[in-house]
Amino acid sequence: MSKIILTGDRPTGRLHVGHYVGSLKRRVELQNSGAFDKIFIMIADAQALTDNAEHPEKVRQNIIEVALDYLSCGLDPAKSTLFIQSQIPELCELSFYYMNLVTVSRLQRNPTVKSEIQMRNFETSIPVGFFTYPISQAADITAFKATTVPVGEDQLPMIEQTREIVRKFNSVYGDTLIEPDVLLPDNKACLRLPGIDGKAKMSKSLGNCIYLSDTEADVRQKIMSMFTDPNHLKVSDPGQVEGNPVFIYLDAFCRDEHFAEFCPDYQNLDEMKAHYTRGGLGDVKVKKFLNNVIQSELAPIRERRKEFEKDIPAVYDILKKGSEVAREAAAATLADVKSAMKINYFDDLELIQSQSEKFKN
Ligand code: TRP
Repeated sequence: MSKIILTGDRPTGRLHVGHYVGSLKRRVELQNSGAFDKIFIMIADAQALTDNAEHPEKVRQNIIEVALDYLSCGLDPAKSTLFIQSQIPELCELSFYYMNLVTVSRLQRNPTVKSEIQMRNFETSIPVGFFTYPISQAADITAFKATTVPVGEDQLPMIEQTREIVRKFNSVYGDTLIEPDVLLPDNKACLRLPGIDGKAKMSKSLGNCIYLSDTEADVRQKIMSMFTDPNHLKVSDPGQVEGNPVFIYLDAFCRDEHFAEFCPDYQNLDEMKAHYTRGGLGDVKVKKFLNNVIQSELAPIRERRKEFEKDIPAVYDILKKGSEVAREAAAATLADVKSAMKINYFDDLELIQSQSEKFKN
């Protein structure tokens, strides 16, 4: 069986370092590992519209931002198919049939939908499209016969819902769809990077993100203003590393080589953490180190972005070509689905034959 990746992001803003450590970096590694037969990376504009119906311009503007973030991180259109969800109408058709396989109460129990409804204060005014987006996400994944879906842990309930739809479809209509596996980031700290203010999640509305496209000065300023251990007032005070965003970021980003290069007082992060914990290590020194580490990671990304920004029509062309390739793949799956459901009437010669027998006498 072919190994196929499908994953994507909603284009509601520029991508940030949480996206990077949580999934982008891994995607590039997977792409370059050569272990996959096909890789589809989708800009999920239709999904973004499920809770942005009144802000289509926001979605429209951010498609190019996300595409630039993808390309600058090293996703390569020669190896991965980059495409735009709304350009694949087959996904809507698949969703329409999958909707019959899912109950309202099952959707209501989906933990991601539940918490998103709370976060957005939808209460009694939940858009139907938003409510059913897990079904559309199942269409995204199955349309490409994805075996592997690399995402952050917040997407786990979506993949579980997809697997249920696949099992249900296959049991009703016969083996047709592939049950995908989720691939979570391997570094625990990457599962979810907190905001620079220490809040649980980086989010544009909270203004606590470090963006991949931030300038060097912006990144430095954001890191130097990061929340740390509020009880670590004097350098000599013992500090806490657990739950301290600066150390969570270091867990996600730093490698032993970074110490040799930027902070030779320590061999590795454990030594630095031990010093911070017993007291005598100031936040400024740790933040300066973190800044060096993150800047060294972001500098090549920023450089590549500048190059792609010089030819924006070429970036749209990459998405257009990718969307054509993606559409072909989705159309093939839709044909399989329709024939499994026996709603491919005009190709079903047996049906036409037997119906004509029936009406003969
Ligand atoms: N729900 C994902 C997000 O919010 C985006 C997405 C849409 C996706 N369809 C997908 C991710 C299919 C993985 C697979 O970022």
